[in-house]
Amino acid sequence: MTSSFAKPGPVLGVETSCDETGVAVYDRERGLLAHTLYSQVDLHAEYGGVVPELASRDHVRKLLPLVRQTLSDAGIAIESLGGVAYTAGPGLVGALLVGAAAARSLAWALEVPAIGVHHLEGHLLAPLLEADPPEPPFVALLVSGGHSMLIAVDGIGRYRLLGDTLDDAAGEAFDKTAKLMGLPYPGGPALARLAEGGDPNAFRFSRPMTDRPGLDFSFSGLKTQVLQAWQRSDRAEDTRADIARGFEEAIVETLAIKCRRALEAAGARRLVVAGGVGANRRLRAQLADAGAREGFSVHFPRLEFCTDNGAMIALAGAIRLHGGQLDDAQIRVFPRWDLEGLPAVEAG
Ligand code: KG4
Ligand code: ZN
Repeated sequence: MTSSFAKPGPVLGVETSCDETGVAVYDRERGLLAHTLYSQVDLHAEYGGVVPELASRDHVRKLLPLVRQTLSDAGIAIESLGGVAYTAGPGLVGALLVGAAAARSLAWALEVPAIGVHHLEGHLLAPLLEADPPEPPFVALLVSGGHSMLIAVDGIGRYRLLGDTLDDAAGEAFDKTAKLMGLPYPGGPALARLAEGGDPNAFRFSRPMTDRPGLDFSFSGLKTQVLQAWQRSDRAEDTRADIARGFEEAIVETLAIKCRRALEAAGARRLVVAGGVGANRRLRAQLADAGAREGFSVHFPRLEFCTDNGAMIALAGAIRLHGGQLDDAQIRVFPRWDLEGLPAVEAG
């Protein structure tokens, strides 16, 4: 449904697609006014992964207090909101429904428009929350727990998938490798910390699928290589750090090689890096170096907006609402949702 965005006030953003409850208020003129996040990591840690039913219940407990807190931090009354945006997918169906039901009902009560946002669009527009935001066209590397994608962003809502993973996502590879090395959940950040003290040359793992043309990824073989090295090793503290470092180097270099190829294929000079693995310091450093050397600019969200958050949803929603898009009053979520099928937003 399309109509003009009558009320220009700030937009409330709600993210509940997985194990983080994120809320934010974004204003097109004044920028990000406030954002809050509650992570369920401790809740799921004892199970070694996200338990969907527990995630939904915890969103129910945390969402409304976070909305109140965020509005108070932003210093605005709820009545001054001009619209509401919420993650409508992809994600866990129960978790999505909590955010969608609350956000949609709030918009109905306030008589303001609401829009369901694609979670991955949120991630890939997150660098637009920073100073000096990149203008499309650009190439986005989206690396999270569920996705490893290279996307040509020709405009807002005009996305072409250039490459995807054939098996594990980059974050998933970090998490699974961390688990087999006995690191606590969530493994990605823990493995990256362990790798800091490691020797990059002690273990050399392959850079999967870089020896042939194409922009797809495959990380499950790398995990097996690490498992074999791990089983053969003495598992001393230094060796653990060396293996972690070797694994991180392999992932980071593979991603960097494919980013360069994708920029070339799309004829773009701007690279955006988004999603949880975008928080990896070595990935950020290596891509920034490559950009400086080879003449492309690299744009990252600040660390806290790489992983799931409400700010990216408020921003993406505000752009779409401003572009005249809104959803009807039904509460609908899409656990699977194709990014390329989204409607374009006209510039202006
Ligand atoms: O985007 P995100 O918060 O959630 C999804 O939508 O998946 O990404 C979470 C993923 C996890 O797999 C986590 O281990 C990984 O991002 N991650 C990292 C780092 N921080 C988070 N992986 C490597 N290095 C990091 N510093
Ligand atoms: Zn995410």
